This record gives sequence, structure tokens and C-alpha cells, in this order.
Amino acid sequence: MIENNQDRRVITPDKKRDESEIELSLRPKSLDEYIGQEKLKEKMKIFIDAAKMREESLDHVLLYGPPGLGKTTLSSIIANEMGVSIRITSGPAIERPGDLAAILTNLQENDVLFIDEIHRLSRSVEEVLYPSMEDYALDIIIGKGPSARTVRLDLPRFTLIGATTRAGLLTSPLRDRFGVICKLDLYEVKNLKKIVLRSADILGVPIDDGSASLIAVRSRGTPRIVNRLLKRVRDYAQVMGDGSINEDTVAKAMTLLEVDPLGLDGVDRKILKTIIVKFDGGPVGLDTLAASTGEERNTIEDVYEPYLLQLGFINRTPRGRVVTSRGYRHLGMEKKGEEEITIWDLEEGR
Ligand SMILES: Nc1ncnc2c1ncn2[C@@H]1O[C@H](COP(=O)(O)OP(=O)(O)OP(=O)(O)O)[C@@H](O)[C@H]1O
Ligand SMILES: [Mg+2]
Repeated sequence: MIENNQDRRVITPDKKRDESEIELSLRPKSLDEYIGQEKLKEKMKIFIDAAKMREESLDHVLLYGPPGLGKTTLSSIIANEMGVSIRITSGPAIERPGDLAAILTNLQENDVLFIDEIHRLSRSVEEVLYPSMEDYALDIIIGKGPSARTVRLDLPRFTLIGATTRAGLLTSPLRDRFGVICKLDLYEVKNLKKIVLRSADILGVPIDDGSASLIAVRSRGTPRIVNRLLKRVRDYAQVMGDGSINEDTVAKAMTLLEVDPLGLDGVDRKILKTIIVKFDGGPVGLDTLAASTGEERNTIEDVYEPYLLQLGFINRTPRGRVVTSRGYRHLGMEKKGEEEITIWDLEEGR
């Protein structure tokens, strides 16, 4: 949850302040209810079944991927499927090693400990985490100065599930201690559509197939955005119509929300335009792009770029980001053809 300008965008994948309650009711509770991410689900099913057969705790799991794709949801599902309890916390919430020690000593055998934003753990907390992940033990220092000694405390076997937007943000010793590392990808439209239909059913809103598709394609591959757009369209249908959603209500509600047919908003277009106009289509480095658009580097990398990449509007090259011909076309612009560049280069050379 954040409180900067992301909060004003209807298509931000970050959780908004008032969304917790509704998310809870729409959150799938079992792997079968969890839509999409087929490869990941298949893998998790095998690990969960194997651990249950051996009556052991599940190996530590690292989940990474852009916000709003279902990392928290999946962690609760894993605990459900294992038949154990889950304790949810986050990197910034664990301030001191003692906070972590308190959490760890309160776990039951095979429990799941979920640490969101695990890349934001402090160094000193991380160092307590290493032996607890590896040996299920806690090294506690008693006393101060020369008389200080370390006492090893045994912990119950537990499963740590860490979530982060990018695995690259983790220190390598921490990353190496996860047995299972899974990436969540942006969802395909057909799966987003299934989520719209499922959520509409839970909310009790009548919706037809075509309208579900229209919402799905505007959701930037992100279940959280699907559910949010659905709720906004539902509001619109209630106030302006008879409460049921049809393609006309979707179109009108989206116009009102300023979400374009592909789910892009002003910031996406600003990023594309900046690369095209100021940097001749790229390549341009991320920091330079951040400075010229006034957006944060991390926000560009976690929020905007994944979807622009999925649409094929930009490419990542070793020298920076480049807008593709498709990206130009979406803005109604034309990329300089190769022929044109060659002629220009020759003239320059003379
Ligand atoms: N596979 C899925 N099937 C159906 N609904 C889903 C799925 N994944 C996520 N959702 C819905 O999207 C919402 C957001 O998911 P969740 O909170 O798990 O995302 P997250 O990856 O943890 O996001 P963040 O990075 O912001 O913590 C959930 O409330 C849930 O309703
Ligand atoms: Mg989460």
C-alpha cells in the first residue's frame, strides 16, 4: 500500500487504501481456485504433495513479480493446502533482530512465515534469518563485552515464503537459501477474463462475456486491476443503468476513468513520448528516463515497464530502452524506417 501519486491512478497495480476488505472476499482460497500461472501451480502442487507425504515442512519459497499478481494470495493458499497456519509480516515491519526472534519463536511446527517486501529487511535482521532458515536455530547473544556468549535456540521447522517485486533486489546469500524460486508473470487476457467472471459472480453483478473481455484487456495483466476496474464499472452500472454490466457501460465507464482500450494511461504515454521525442526512440538508460519523466526509477521498472514490454511497445537492450514500431503506431507516430536512416547517414558522411 502506498500513498504517493500512484494512489490517484485507477490502473495502479499497488493496493489502494480502501481495498483490503474487498480483496479479501475475492481472494481465491485453494490452488484450484487460483486462476492462471499454470506452470507455477503445477510445480507448487508437486512440492506441497511431496512435503505432505514426508510429513515435513515445505522448502522455503521465494515469489517474485510485479505488484498485484497474487503473491500474498498464493502464500495463503500454500499454507491452506499444507494445512498449517500462516503468519504475515513484511521486511520494513521487522525493525530489529529481536522482532524477528519473537516471530520465529512463536511459530508452530511446519507453519508458514510470509515476509512481504523481503528485499527491505535490514542487514542485521537478515543475519538472524540465515541460521533460522538453514538450521532452524536462533543464535542469541547474552551479555555484553568480553563476557558475552552465544546461545543457540532450536526453532520449529517452518516454511519461509518471501515476496519481492524483483529477485535481483535480494542479497545473494538470502536468495541462495530459498529452495524454490518462482516468478509470477503478467496474466494472459483469457485468464484475466476468467477472474472478471469469477469476481462478478462473487459480487453478484450480472455481466456478459464481451464486457468481461473488455475489462480484461484493460487490466495490464494484473488481477488486482481487473477487480478494481470491475468494481468501478459496477458502480457506474448501478448509478447510470439497471445495475447489470454490458459493453456500453464498460466503454462509458472507461472513458470516464481515462483508461484507454489497452489499459494505458497518461504516464505510460508520457514515457513512450519522452523516449521518442527527447531520445529519438532510444536507447535511453533507466535513470535518464526517470529524470526526464519525473517518475521514480523503481516505479518505472516495476509498474510501467513490464506492461509496455508485454505489449511489445518497448524493448530492453543492453544500452537502454527503445520504443518499437508498435509503440510508435500506438501513439499515431511513425518510426524512422531503416532506408531513411541510411540515406541520411550517407549524406552526413559526405
Ligand atoms: N490467480 C488469481 N486468481 C484470481 N484472483 C487473483 C489471482 N491472483 C490474485 N488475485 C486477486 O488479486 C488481488 C491481489 O492479489 P495479491 O494481493 O495476492 O497480490 P500481490 O502480488 O501480493 O501484490 P503486492 O505486490 O501489491 O503485495 C487479490 O485480492 C485477488 O483477489
Ligand atoms: Mg502482497
